[in-house]
Amino acid sequence: MYFLVLLLPFIDHLASCEASTVLLNRNLAYSSPFTGHDQAYINQPQLAIDTKQLAKRHIAHARRQTEDATGFVDEHYTTFYGGDFSNSPTIWKGGLNFTHSVASGDPFNTSVLLWTRAVPVSPPGTTELPDQSVPACLSFKISTSPDLQGDTIDSGDAFTSYDVDWTLKVEAAGLTPDTKFFFQFSDCTNSSSVSPIGTTRTLPSPDTPANEVNGGNPITLAVFSCSQYQAGKRFSLHEACLRTEIKLIMTGWFNAYGYAAHNTSAEIFLHLGDYVCTKISSETIYESLGDGASIGRQTLGRELATVHDYRQRLNQYRTDQGLLAAHQSGPWVTDDHEVADQSWKAGTADSNDSTIGCAFSPSGACFTDRKLAAVRAYHEWLPIRQVTVNDKLRIWRNFEIGKLLDLTMLDTRQYDRDITDAIINTLAAFPNRSLMGFEQEKWFFNTLSQSQNRGAIWRVVGQQIVFTQLNESGVCQPNDAWDGYRANRERVLNYLYENEINNTIVLSGDSHANWVSDLAHPNDSTTYNPLSGQGAIGVEFAGTAVTSGSSFGTNIAPAAADVKSQEYVAANLDLQWSEGSYRGFFTLTIDPNTLNATYYAMRNITFANLDGFASANFVVKAGENKLSRPVAGGSTLAGVLKFNGSESH
Ligand SMILES: *[C@@H]1O[C@H](CO)[C@@H](O)[C@H](O)[C@H]1NC(C)=O
Ligand SMILES: *[C@@H]1O[C@H](CO)[C@@H](O)[C@H](O)[C@H]1NC(C)=O
Ligand SMILES: *[C@@H]1O[C@H](CO)[C@@H](O)[C@H](O)[C@H]1NC(C)=O
Ligand SMILES: *[C@@H]1O[C@H](CO)[C@@H](O)[C@H](O)[C@H]1NC(C)=O
Ligand SMILES: *[C@@H]1O[C@H](CO)[C@@H](O)[C@H](O)[C@H]1NC(C)=O
Ligand SMILES: *[C@@H]1O[C@H](CO)[C@@H](O)[C@H](O)[C@H]1NC(C)=O
Ligand SMILES: *[C@@H]1O[C@H](CO)[C@@H](O)[C@H](O)[C@H]1NC(C)=O
Ligand SMILES: *[C@@H]1O[C@H](CO)[C@@H](O)[C@H](O)[C@H]1NC(C)=O
Ligand SMILES: *[C@@H]1O[C@H](CO)[C@@H](O)[C@H](O)[C@H]1NC(C)=O
Ligand SMILES: *[C@@H]1O[C@H](CO)[C@@H](O)[C@H](O)[C@H]1NC(C)=O
Ligand SMILES: *[C@@H]1O[C@H](CO)[C@@H](O)[C@H](O)[C@H]1NC(C)=O
Ligand SMILES: *[C@@H]1O[C@H](CO)[C@@H](O)[C@H](O)[C@H]1NC(C)=O
Repeated sequence: MYFLVLLLPFIDHLASCEASTVLLNRNLAYSSPFTGHDQAYINQPQLAIDTKQLAKRHIAHARRQTEDATGFVDEHYTTFYGGDFSNSPTIWKGGLNFTHSVASGDPFNTSVLLWTRAVPVSPPGTTELPDQSVPACLSFKISTSPDLQGDTIDSGDAFTSYDVDWTLKVEAAGLTPDTKFFFQFSDCTNSSSVSPIGTTRTLPSPDTPANEVNGGNPITLAVFSCSQYQAGKRFSLHEACLRTEIKLIMTGWFNAYGYAAHNTSAEIFLHLGDYVCTKISSETIYESLGDGASIGRQTLGRELATVHDYRQRLNQYRTDQGLLAAHQSGPWVTDDHEVADQSWKAGTADSNDSTIGCAFSPSGACFTDRKLAAVRAYHEWLPIRQVTVNDKLRIWRNFEIGKLLDLTMLDTRQYDRDITDAIINTLAAFPNRSLMGFEQEKWFFNTLSQSQNRGAIWRVVGQQIVFTQLNESGVCQPNDAWDGYRANRERVLNYLYENEINNTIVLSGDSHANWVSDLAHPNDSTTYNPLSGQGAIGVEFAGTAVTSGSSFGTNIAPAAADVKSQEYVAANLDLQWSEGSYRGFFTLTIDPNTLNATYYAMRNITFANLDGFASANFVVKAGENKLSRPVAGGSTLAGVLKFNGSESH
């Protein structure tokens, strides 16, 4: 109610600058991805928007309605009204369009981030273009009743504007832990103009006993990676190594997200990288436009470089009905800032901060500029929290989900990663190469120990690239994986073994295929027995892409993919299941005794549908640090198991 009192005069008269700044600040999309953003603002103006200046601008525009507007020019908005703001209202009252439904994310025990986007529309009965120079005002409310008619637990008003692409991100607070909630946004100037209702939840408090988490029921996470909207070309892992021919792939509809939302009991959605495909490099965009168009999935824009580019791509991806449904049905925990293809801390597959590297990127943007633009847009469009004071784009963070599990999200992509090597075998074994950077690695090890010390049963580690060594038929190792950072992987495995960290489950994205492995030192048949799983120190679940093309080959059929999978499970000691044909996702259903992973395969992604099936199911029993035998119960509906359970141990 406090906000409403401040707001009402603002609608009719001129508000004070402070009142307006409060309503702007409530929208976290204006703030920097860093907390304590003042310092960051000075150094990196792209990363925060100065809401005091914005408020002043809005007031100045409003004044000009009542005062002489002659000669008034605003350099920010020259394109909209040629600088004439004489008819500009103080806040937009002409109607709002909730163009991208609602979303929520980064739940804590008493708070969660709520997201929407509300774009001014032409007032009813007019063809007048909406005034983009004034803010829109939105109210939110959150309740435990599905129709929001019951008690409102938190509510408030906040502004959005052109400056943040009309996105709105607020923190709902004062919530009960471990509870399901419903939320909705409305137009402050017209309470009957409302967004769809979203579902979200809070996490249990860190000290909630494991068997009381989620009311004593198992909790289900859905895990995704690699969405590509358009048709395009991609190197398979082999081809990337050899730098040979590239293949055309038909990607498509994000049915996996919709399936998770509609056909599973997923309560929390995790994304492990490549939420959008940033690439569409010049060699593929023009050639492949026709293919995307044939399934109604043509991307707008170009290879991404500016804030506008990144916003446009996020905007377009978020029109997919499956993706919208998944954002609407539960909180997301996302990672990876989606800067560019195969990026590392100072560069990407085709651009970096050297003179020559800048020339490779669209409009000559150097990598650091692209990175800042990407991070700005990502924080506007995704319900992700700011993490910490002015730390290099840190998004690695930990969620304590009662005493049941810690969900530890790493950044193996942007934070402090040494160069991604094209010719991996020259650099991969260097002991001084790091994937995480020193700070993050230290934090990761501490987090693992703290998690075990605080008595959490499971340690679920979300990260972007495949951890287990995968020697694909001896051709070469994939370069964009932990295989390219072998010393770093060894340090992780050593830490787990030496500190007897139990029940660690590594989740991976990126590879566009499914790989399930026991965690052990690569090819170490002395310590680890692949038949029994004895000697392993955890499990890796690596998931296929939502749509991006298979690394086994373009649109490869199940039978042909299985031929390769046979080779892979035979060649790699730790690998227990390989599947390379279907696009999809997997879920983890976790209780104090077992963690079950179910892999889902989508039957056809060339059109929007909810047709899929559970292709394999894996059980990990607490304390065993390996896949339960027989692995996947000895049979799966797709892909190839190393053993089918008939072998004697
Ligand atoms: C609202 O946004 C949707 C999605 O962008 C669009 O299809 C629709 O035409 C818009 N409606 C109005 C009234 O602008
Ligand atoms: C308020 O919003 C509703 C629903 O969008 C719409 O039908 C109505 O015309 C709006 N009222 C005014 C005064 O704009
Ligand atoms: C929420 O968690 C914090 C620790 O992160 C704890 O201090 C606080 O007491 C918890 N709140 C409730 C209501 O359980
Ligand atoms: C930077 O990019 C250019 C052009 O792609 C490349 O030739 C050069 O090796 C790159 N340098 C680094 C350090 O990545
Ligand atoms: C990393 O180690 C390799 C091989 O020992 C060496 O050639 C290289 O200069 C080192 N790089 C750095 C940055 O220390
Ligand atoms: C990959 O496996 C082949 C045998 O299949 C072996 O010859 C080769 O040394 C392995 N490569 C690596 C990098 O381990
Ligand atoms: C981890 O599991 C091993 C084997 O069950 C056990 O000996 C060890 O005590 C456990 N470590 C901790 C810290 O609980
Ligand atoms: C694993 O080690 C054996 C020798 O112990 C070797 O023959 C084989 O090529 C290795 N495989 C991989 C994938 O490195
Ligand atoms: C996991 O699957 C096993 C076997 O199907 C079942 O007994 C167990 O209850 C499941 N656990 C969870 C948490 O879903
Ligand atoms: C997918 O659906 C399209 C359109 O109905 C159809 O042409 C195609 O054959 C289907 N693909 C598969 C693999 O079933
Ligand atoms: C998924 O759910 C939708 C709607 O709830 C239903 O129509 C569809 O048949 C379900 N798909 C499967 C494979 O069960
Ligand atoms: C398991 O695999 C073995 C050897 O590959 C085969 O002989 C056996 O029939 C299989 N059993 C089942 C149940 O598929």
